Amino acid sequence: MAPTNSPRHDTIPSQPSFDGVDLDALAARLGTPLYAYSATAIRRRIGELQAALHGLDTTICYAVKANSNRAVLELMAAGGLGADIVSAGELQRALAAGIPAERIVFSGVGKTDSEIDMALEAGIDRFNVESLDELHAIERVAQARQAIACAAVRINPDVDALTHAKISTGRAENKFGVSIAEARRWFAERRQLAHVRLDGLHVHIGSQIMDVEPFRLALHRIAAFWRELVKAGHPIVSIDVGGGLGVRYRTGHDQPVAAADYAQAIREALADFDGRLLLEPGRWLVAEAGVLLTRVLRIKEGTERRFLVLDAAMNDLQRPSLYDAWHDILPVAPGLRPTTTYDVVGPVCETGDTFARERALPECAPGDLLAIQGAGAYGASMSSTYNSRPLAAEVMLDAGRYAVIRRRQTLEEMVAGEKSARDWQAVRPQEQA
Ligand SMILES: Cc1ncc(COP(=O)(O)O)c(C=O)c1O
Repeated sequence: MAPTNSPRHDTIPSQPSFDGVDLDALAARLGTPLYAYSATAIRRRIGELQAALHGLDTTICYAVKANSNRAVLELMAAGGLGADIVSAGELQRALAAGIPAERIVFSGVGKTDSEIDMALEAGIDRFNVESLDELHAIERVAQARQAIACAAVRINPDVDALTHAKISTGRAENKFGVSIAEARRWFAERRQLAHVRLDGLHVHIGSQIMDVEPFRLALHRIAAFWRELVKAGHPIVSIDVGGGLGVRYRTGHDQPVAAADYAQAIREALADFDGRLLLEPGRWLVAEAGVLLTRVLRIKEGTERRFLVLDAAMNDLQRPSLYDAWHDILPVAPGLRPTTTYDVVGPVCETGDTFARERALPECAPGDLLAIQGAGAYGASMSSTYNSRPLAAEVMLDAGRYAVIRRRQTLEEMVAGEKSARDWQAVRPQEQA
């Protein structure tokens, strides 16, 4: 038996418009699922962070992975930001959007020789190096092109970021960075590197961090190590403090760290550092500036639950299935309606394709438009075509106007590149190397 919820009339807020654009009309014109980002909100966040860091010598390198759409990157470029990249693809996107190479830093544990080469060719600012093997690879590739690569050691400070395990990166058990003991050895031997200038430190302890304390702890460990290195005769010209600032996904529940408090923690820990500070925020700049618009396909009365089946799914927005992440969900149409609870699900054939369980929402009907909040970061950039669902469209909103910034993928585009297995070829073992 499906539950018989007695109708309540709680006032659930709605979101008829975003950045001055009527969302109902927008969805009617462009279809759903549809990502919509507010340029105004992104610019506001850029300005807020820059104001909080006022007076410090900083470069904010936006973490491209959070939302790598060209139009989003162009907003970062226009705001004077650099980029934190983790692949050749992100390098290409950042450069194409007008982010100067000298404001680009390259992080990630699996940089390939060809990616290192491309980054050197482009003239990026520096590599955030995650292992000794990678350090040697950078030396080798830089030597081959007779270049000098600037590098920072990514320190794993063994700090608990108090966030979801899958986005925690600064514990000793995580794959990221190296211990201070190992970094000490790298610096002791740095003069053996003829093509790498090892003169920076980097730390990034995780994402969606909601407490300033883990930042403080990591920053103090980095600061102590920087002082030790300088005393030992190793100049440090930059300290990259990573990203990780959390955002409000759940109204009335999440209490993000204020940008000013975060900046204050940086100031306190690194007050006497006279080099350049790099920051790599991703989520904080874009998450709350995005919604995923989706329509109700149907209501399914299960034996134990009432399911609200949407036309968006885990392939469009993975965070709930990947991290059990909460996203507020608002109806677009205003007005008082009885509320009920639904399990909000997508059409993908996985039980994990669930946006919310037992979520209080106004009673919905097929065709109703909903806005999934906080979808500007790690939404479109993590999407896939799983279940052969074409990639959703993306649109930028700006003070009453909109521009399509990625058109909806067609079925033909989705399968382009696939072929029947007709053109069989042989490969001999010696060719495989
Ligand atoms: C090295 C590095 N820097 C910055 C970021 C951005 O983190 P956030 O989006 O939480 O600010 C990440 C995220 O994974 C990262 O791995």
